[in-house]
Amino acid sequence: MASAEQKKLIVVVGATGNQGGAVARRFIQDPRYAVRGLTRNPDSPAGKELAALGVEVVQAELDDVKSLEAAFAGANVIFSVTNYWEPFFRPDCRAKAAELGVSCRKYAYDVEYRQGKNIADAAATVAGSLDANGFLASTLSNSRKCTDGKIDDLYHFDAKADVFPDYVNAAHPELAAKMSCIHTGFFTTSHRILPESYFHRVSLTPYPPSPPANTTNTHPQLADGTFEMRFPCSPNSPIPHLDVNADTGNFTYAVSQMPAGKAYMAAEYLTWPEFAAAWQRVTGASIAYKEVSFDEMVAAMPDRDLGVEVGLMFVYSSAPGYDGQMELLKAEDLRKVSFDDGG
Ligand SMILES: NC(=O)c1ccc[n+]([C@@H]2O[C@H](COP(=O)([O-])OP(=O)(O)OC[C@H]3O[C@@H](n4cnc5c(N)ncnc54)[C@H](OP(=O)(O)O)[C@@H]3O)[C@@H](O)[C@H]2O)c1
Repeated sequence: MASAEQKKLIVVVGATGNQGGAVARRFIQDPRYAVRGLTRNPDSPAGKELAALGVEVVQAELDDVKSLEAAFAGANVIFSVTNYWEPFFRPDCRAKAAELGVSCRKYAYDVEYRQGKNIADAAATVAGSLDANGFLASTLSNSRKCTDGKIDDLYHFDAKADVFPDYVNAAHPELAAKMSCIHTGFFTTSHRILPESYFHRVSLTPYPPSPPANTTNTHPQLADGTFEMRFPCSPNSPIPHLDVNADTGNFTYAVSQMPAGKAYMAAEYLTWPEFAAAWQRVTGASIAYKEVSFDEMVAAMPDRDLGVEVGLMFVYSSAPGYDGQMELLKAEDLRKVSFDDGG
């Protein structure tokens, strides 16, 4: 086993969260790695859980570059992730956005962009001592560029892509040369934030022959009490799906053994009807997929800003596609390479 001095150090941003947590848990299984996990609050239950696994849990704040520089000291590898949704949902951020006269969607873009830039600036201070493929950045495609500006406000995509890779390439060439970009698919847990769209409960109204105006059953074959999955997205578009807690760790671990400079999609592609069929198979509940309009999706959401932000994501996922039709390496490409699994 490697001694403490011989171990490589991976520093994981967002270690108490879904993506970072999966990465920290994967690398700590390899005795050749020491794992340092960042959080604002090391004493939280998630922080204590990581510490119990052997992760060095340290305090850092993404709005404080100095705290990130200290946390990245000695790193061989850095895993980076940013969180659009915290400033989007937090009541104090919503109040601040209103005060500034910007939408909460744009406000959350500004926070995520700034925090991503802080991570990049701090990582650049240790770029010289990082491994050749030592900067692993979670990101998404650039919807503004991939639609030639037709969609220019899909903020939770572009806040990531504007930094990873664009800002890093422009501002920090040495770090950029050691970067891999990992795009993540739709989390299979996302129904928790969009329950009405994922599982619209079909009402107890007769249909056909003459549905009342308020019927919600748009699939005649569906029985009462069954479900419709409703998104503004073509049923034929391939959609990347990711079991974020189970698979982000293994995927990132495999990426860390590749040469730098490539971009990946951590996901398996299924159309929405195929995804719905998988739910039906597993749960036994009857579910059908229905393409709805952007406006219908927005109207179905209790929070209009959330409806617009995710509605745009579904429209973009329909065409050109969630990955913006970028050339991204996938799990099957990684499987062709022979890996050391650390076991
Ligand atoms: N839902 C989906 O389908 C989907 C798909 C693709 C991509 N995404 C993206 O995934 C991202 C969220 O990733 P996730 O699910 O892994 O996040 P998460 O589970 O919500 O965790 C967020 C992590 O970031 C840390 N963090 C947040 N703000 C921080 C700050 N100011 N300073 C230091 N640490 C901070 C948190 O640490 P502490 O709270 O412990 O400080 C926590 O570890 C979002 O940007 C979203 O757009 C989501």
